[in-house]
Amino acid sequence: MSKVWVTGAGGLIGSEIVRTAPRWSPDSEVVALTRAELDLSDFDAVASRYRVDNPDVVIHCAALSRPVDCERNPEEARRINSELTGLLADLAKDGFMLHVSTDLVLDGAKGGYTEEDPPNPLHDYGRTKLAGELLARRHDGHAIVRTALNFGCSPEGNRAFNEQMRSALQAGTDFTLFTDEYRSPLATAVTVRVLWELARLKLGGLYLLGGSERVSRWQIGEALTRRWGETPGTIRPGSLRDYDGPPRAADLSMNCRKLQSLLSFPLPGFHEWLEANPEARV
Ligand SMILES: NC(=O)c1ccc[n+]([C@@H]2O[C@H](COP(=O)([O-])OP(=O)(O)OC[C@H]3O[C@@H](n4cnc5c(N)ncnc54)[C@H](OP(=O)(O)O)[C@@H]3O)[C@@H](O)[C@H]2O)c1
Repeated sequence: MSKVWVTGAGGLIGSEIVRTAPRWSPDSEVVALTRAELDLSDFDAVASRYRVDNPDVVIHCAALSRPVDCERNPEEARRINSELTGLLADLAKDGFMLHVSTDLVLDGAKGGYTEEDPPNPLHDYGRTKLAGELLARRHDGHAIVRTALNFGCSPEGNRAFNEQMRSALQAGTDFTLFTDEYRSPLATAVTVRVLWELARLKLGGLYLLGGSERVSRWQIGEALTRRWGETPGTIRPGSLRDYDGPPRAADLSMNCRKLQSLLSFPLPGFHEWLEANPEARV
């Protein structure tokens, strides 16, 4: 049996990793590190707890994950997204760490990204996550997984973009969704299955992880609102060409061939997954 530390265990992806451990890794003993369990900004406490638990694997999901929070709290973003990742990577140097990073380390200028494409983050969130990647890469054995936009269900129902959009629509907010901004979204249920497979393989390196379909924000919104039925708020199509706010990554679609070759199952596309899971709450 291996002992697995899961940081960010109260968040969207971390909670799903913990919840699905009996299915995808029944012989693992999971230590679920929610904020209540351990404040990860206290590095002395993290190091002491690590030495007590002595895990074989760390799946590192904790982050300041909302770009707007990173812009507001740059110090905290650097501490959690960058320095904490470096600390955990060093602590786990004789074990294995799976660091969950983001497609937002890329600038979205080209789309169809592979692991060979150089990062160029547009915001503090991506910049601090990239700095964390670089610290994790000091140890060749660790894996860094740049995850695409996830949709799913978080413990409080407020972490995933689909949850936030649905609540806002139900509260009467209207949305403009870009027909020319692209992502490779993936259900969190699939993301965590991949992470569990990688945790067992213990293969170091950089991997991109997303769904197999390139879809626009508008297509995403159309499919989800169809599923949700009528809401007081509505969505309307728009174009990035008419957008005048902080920089946005236009096309973060990805080619996940490298990771796909290691997996026991095919990465599904966005529409394919929704159709195959008509009862799933998204
Ligand atoms: N969701 C996506 O679409 C997506 C896409 C690409 C990459 N990612 C990456 O995937 C990872 C997981 O994302 P997620 O969506 O699950 O994010 P999330 O729901 O925001 O979860 C992050 C967790 O980290 C915890 N955390 C932050 N600071 C902490 C601290 N000082 N001490 C203890 N816990 C702390 C948060 O605790 P609280 O709940 O108490 O705040 C939260 O539970 C992140 O690294 C993110 O960058 C996510």
